[in-house]
Amino acid sequence: MYDFFNFLMERYQEKQKFFGPVRSFLWPQLDVDIMLPLSTILTFRKRLKVEISWDQLSMDCSPTFCVAGFWNPFVIFRSRSSRRRRRLHSLGLAAMPEKRPFERLPADVSPINYSLCLKPDLLDFTFEGKLEAAAQVRQATNQIVMNCADIDIITASYAPEGDEEIHATGFNYQNEDEKVTLSFPSTLQTGTGTLKIDFVGELNDKMKGFYRSKYTTPSGEVRYAAVTQFEATDARRAFPCWDEPAIKATFDISLVVPKDRVALSNMNVIDRKPYPDDENLVEVKFARTPVMSTYLVAFVVGEYDFVETRSKDGVCVRVYTPVGKAEQGKFALEVAAKTLPFYKDYFNVPYPLPKIDLIAIADFAAGAMENWGLVTYRETALLIDPKNSCSSSRQWVALVVGHELAHQWFGNLVTMEWWTHLWLNEGFASWIEYLCVDHCFPEYDIWTQFVSADYTRAQELDALDNSHPIEVSVGHPSEVDEIFDAISYSKGASVIRMLHDYIGDKDFKRGMNMYLTKFQQKNAATEDLWESLENASGKPIAAVMNTWTKQMGFPLIYVEDEQVEDDRLLRLSQKKFCASGPFVGEDCPQWMVPITISTSEDPNQAKLKILMDKSEMNVVLKNVNPDQWVKLNLGTVGFYRTQYSSAMLESLLPGIRDLSLPPVDRLGLQNDLFSLARAGIISTVEVLKVMEAFVNEPNYTVWSDLSCNLGILSTLLSHTDFYEEIQEFVKDVFSPIGERLGWDPKPGEGHLDALLRGLVLGKLGKAGHKATLEEARRRFKDHVEGKQILSADLRSPVYLTVLKHGDGTTLEIMLKLHKQADMQEEKNRIERVLGATLSPELIQKVLTFALSEEVRPQDTVSVIGGVAGGSKHGRKAAWKFIKDNWEELYNRYQGGFLISRLIKLSVEGFAVDKMAGEVKAFFESHPAPSAERTIQQCCENILLNAAWLKRDAESIHQYLLQRKASPQAV
Ligand code: BES
Ligand code: ZN
Repeated sequence: MYDFFNFLMERYQEKQKFFGPVRSFLWPQLDVDIMLPLSTILTFRKRLKVEISWDQLSMDCSPTFCVAGFWNPFVIFRSRSSRRRRRLHSLGLAAMPEKRPFERLPADVSPINYSLCLKPDLLDFTFEGKLEAAAQVRQATNQIVMNCADIDIITASYAPEGDEEIHATGFNYQNEDEKVTLSFPSTLQTGTGTLKIDFVGELNDKMKGFYRSKYTTPSGEVRYAAVTQFEATDARRAFPCWDEPAIKATFDISLVVPKDRVALSNMNVIDRKPYPDDENLVEVKFARTPVMSTYLVAFVVGEYDFVETRSKDGVCVRVYTPVGKAEQGKFALEVAAKTLPFYKDYFNVPYPLPKIDLIAIADFAAGAMENWGLVTYRETALLIDPKNSCSSSRQWVALVVGHELAHQWFGNLVTMEWWTHLWLNEGFASWIEYLCVDHCFPEYDIWTQFVSADYTRAQELDALDNSHPIEVSVGHPSEVDEIFDAISYSKGASVIRMLHDYIGDKDFKRGMNMYLTKFQQKNAATEDLWESLENASGKPIAAVMNTWTKQMGFPLIYVEDEQVEDDRLLRLSQKKFCASGPFVGEDCPQWMVPITISTSEDPNQAKLKILMDKSEMNVVLKNVNPDQWVKLNLGTVGFYRTQYSSAMLESLLPGIRDLSLPPVDRLGLQNDLFSLARAGIISTVEVLKVMEAFVNEPNYTVWSDLSCNLGILSTLLSHTDFYEEIQEFVKDVFSPIGERLGWDPKPGEGHLDALLRGLVLGKLGKAGHKATLEEARRRFKDHVEGKQILSADLRSPVYLTVLKHGDGTTLEIMLKLHKQADMQEEKNRIERVLGATLSPELIQKVLTFALSEEVRPQDTVSVIGGVAGGSKHGRKAAWKFIKDNWEELYNRYQGGFLISRLIKLSVEGFAVDKMAGEVKAFFESHPAPSAERTIQQCCENILLNAAWLKRDAESIHQYLLQRKASPQAV
């Protein structure tokens, strides 16, 4: 054995010359993989007591052995074959393993309390862990099955209460299932006991589990923090655990960390003492958590400053920022301090922990994560600099804070029983974040923005054949990852908004309180929420809502009217709305649709509310004059689209021009028409005419939605040779409002004016509007020369404009600004517009930049996505780039949800049938399990685009030409 080790050391030293400090390498001769902190081994070599059987080494599992106690050196052997399989799989290259049926963990042993001590090594990127779990054996067994992934167990034992410890004799890792089975030589009898596990793992760079996040100190030194992201199924990468949302327990967490670092976890610190073996370390102990799910556990070790306050209801709130940037935490701190009492009142349930920390993490995959008491954020979702942050960033921070704090009740206190009910968490939080922001910032008119941000986005996705029901059965982690999508979030939020409107705020609040009180510290399913709301309101909630959550899609309501003396008769019918055109086939699904009807007599008030529970219905509106218009879906609250008879539509259009229709109704009408055109139900030219009627439009959100649809149309027409004509159209539609707004804010203007100005100037600049382009260039020059710094709200539109119409020098300047930028917000702002650059050579440069060290790993997606959305050539180049760099990209995100976003952003803009085939074929040979549905949706969208183009391109072209020949006053 001694020889074995000498040999090992020699090999290691050789490798080290080549790789630098290596923590893990393959040792070919013995077919083993050795992962070990070797520097420690060199020091403690003499203390190694090596006992290993060669049989074990060739086993297809991970034989491990440990030496000399807990925090001391250890060596791990793992058979090469098992490792290699795992690596290949992570590259997406392995032959797809046969999918075994997914099984939840057995219920024979479950945790009561986890006592968990972790010791991260911020230089070596490893961690050591010691778990002592109070567990209950419900049924006698000689094995314990837990979740465990990318972790090596060193020792494990179980001590029944008052009895002798039994050492586990085998750890059988089922890598594909992310489970480990601990086998014991004797039976564990029913009763309680302590399960002890010592283990080690890697602080990975995949932004999941317990991972490292890179930051630069104010003096320019690169360092790493150790942070966590466990949702949905990655707590198992930090410690062996029962990693299912319904298996709740309490947690006593302690962290052994360098004494100059901040150590945070879900609860407040209760003890901090020197670590006996190393004077540079301290052990920080946190108070016991309430009963909670594993995915909400969190810890952070790094260097941070903070700002602090106490909310009206007595909770200590802190916002942690990078060192030297505490000021930038103030805005979020204010929002959080206002939000906690707001939710306490709304739910009538107090926040149950003594503190809440909000912390900005440099490398972070999601936008933010609601860990109980320690909410983690991307820097751009938390930090606001009074001078350098734009209005949309403030609004985003407010929404994200509102969202994550809502989860502290809805998700953390009451948790979904299984991921099938994920939408309860995410849909609800995505709805109530708006309620909260509306409370904190009424001037944002945030509910109107809900419609363009969530409602229409959800309808766009849900009209596809490859959508899915809100409640969807999921098992394997990749299936769970997949449902963090616009259906769970935006459709979820939209149907809750519709439900809230149907029930009324008072009963809704009462029902929420009943639900949260009844299920606190427990788990709940969708039906449980319906039951509480039904009890509170006396309305048939489950019957109505099941039609929205258990089946995918939503209805198109067709309506025509007839004047019958003093009354108006409406004939309504519903059919599933499909992005590909009218529903064909038998058994069209049906919905129970709460419908509101308004008339021009009082456009802001529902004249009638009905529940449409059949496929066809006639409704009589009493006392409606023949010259009045009648509209469905006041406030665009019902989750359906409306198709009016020509006569009804004709009567509504003047309401757009004279603004007598409320803003959110104007928005909804335009959006419905646009998607009817995309589905081939009406002609796109009709929609262009309607768009021209928005000439007097003052509302930011209405413009924003219109702009988004025009963007979709521009992308489509970039496949034709009359792209320039549609740019002319964009310029015509946007110049009047551009002129009204000008470049500089006027006295008395507010948040929405700033957003509108940025939107309009960006649109005009991008379309090549001459005056806008000139002014953008002038202001950009002054900005770069330091003569006049651009206000934060003008930066995106100016950067976009000058880049799109600029050259290599402009790109160089932008990249320089990027390098100099101290705020991540500014870096992101630049990254997002880089794709606007037009020359193939510069596009390639931007793509290379996307994968460089300059761009944080989570932001690569928006750079590549920006290239794909920026131009016709960019689209092709981005797709080629993804194919060429697939391994690196897939590996970077380990298949998480960012890979789906990347794919969606990059391929959805194609409009040629054969591209759907190409995309499909590529992913058949390069599987991305968590993006499977996204890929199908993308292929469907490509085919829809192609059909749309074939159907309408010619008539659009004719219309644009004719418009140019005889310009009408728009
Ligand atoms: N629970 C999620 C975070 C998350 C997202 C975990 C995806 C795992 C996968 C969090 O509450 C969330 O929804 N964050 C949003 C931001 C929010 C304001 C919509 C996000 O990350 O995009
Ligand atoms: Zn959420």
